[in-house]
Amino acid sequence: TWTPDAFVDTTVADLKDKLGEDRVILGLSGGVDSTVAATLLHKAIGKNLYCIFVNNGLLRKDEFTQVLKQYEGMGLNVKGVDASARFLEALEGESDPETKRKAIGRVFVEVFDDESKLVENAKWLGQGTIYPDVIESVSATGGPSATIKSHHNVGGLPDYMTLEVVEPLRMLFKDEVRRVGASMGLSPELLGRHPFPGPGLAIRILGDITAEKVRILQEVDHIFISGLREWGLYDKVWQAGAMLLPVNSVGVMGDERTYEKCVALRAVESTDGMTADWVNLPYEFLQKVSNDIINKVKGVNRVVYDISSKPPATIEWE
Ligand code: XMP
Repeated sequence: TWTPDAFVDTTVADLKDKLGEDRVILGLSGGVDSTVAATLLHKAIGKNLYCIFVNNGLLRKDEFTQVLKQYEGMGLNVKGVDASARFLEALEGESDPETKRKAIGRVFVEVFDDESKLVENAKWLGQGTIYPDVIESVSATGGPSATIKSHHNVGGLPDYMTLEVVEPLRMLFKDEVRRVGASMGLSPELLGRHPFPGPGLAIRILGDITAEKVRILQEVDHIFISGLREWGLYDKVWQAGAMLLPVNSVGVMGDERTYEKCVALRAVESTDGMTADWVNLPYEFLQKVSNDIINKVKGVNRVVYDISSKPPATIEWE
């Protein structure tokens, strides 16, 4: 039978074997998968692991600084790279979901390529890819037409990159990754973090992306997620977030007519993200959060709650 301790032992031994004295660059996201992957690699190769945390400008509010802080004292060698401008530029004017995903994937690879050149003799690119990422990105028949969503970190590297990929979690489901993290002593707070997609808010802003839309959605998301924490609901939900819709609707503020954006809140229960049910959040909570969002976030005058399950809907809207 599979146990996290045994997985850690065999994986660390295999990684030592495979990597020897080679240097590995790994993209950290602050989330469970990449942090567990980094911790395994760190156990195997220590100082030869170079972690990079990229700010793609599509993170949650204040996430870049908070995540860098979280890694202080974990023994990992982490460098923060602010590439926000580069991502936003690559996304400019793009509104097709797959085009956006691919643009983000491309820029991530470019940033890593640049960073890897700063690490002498780097041979490997470590990634926290887990099993559901692999299956959802690759169709059962292997044909591209059945791809549901191109995950930003799946699908191989372009030819110009000489790094080989190492993905110690490729065969694990999310709950297994959490158990592996717990067996290595990672904090419950980190392990309890909701999943957050690599393309970040880009796939929650429907249509094209601007710095202003990112700012609006960061504020909305922040109110929703802090509300979940304050009401003791955060740990009852597998994942939650907000979508900024490309829709304006008419509202009224004081005696003024408004014509502003609509946001959709989404909270789901799941075990692995492959299927999901929407969560029956208390009406009082939804009412409070909706009021806070409309009163505090300029540019939003309507909040709706997504009551679709996966399938047939997906968790992210793009
Ligand atoms: P969907 O929207 O396919 O999402 O139901 C399932 C889970 O995967 C996350 N997700 C991603 N995670 N890179 C990631 O690291 C991606 O490109 C990506 N796309 C979706 C999503 O947040 C949910 O947890």
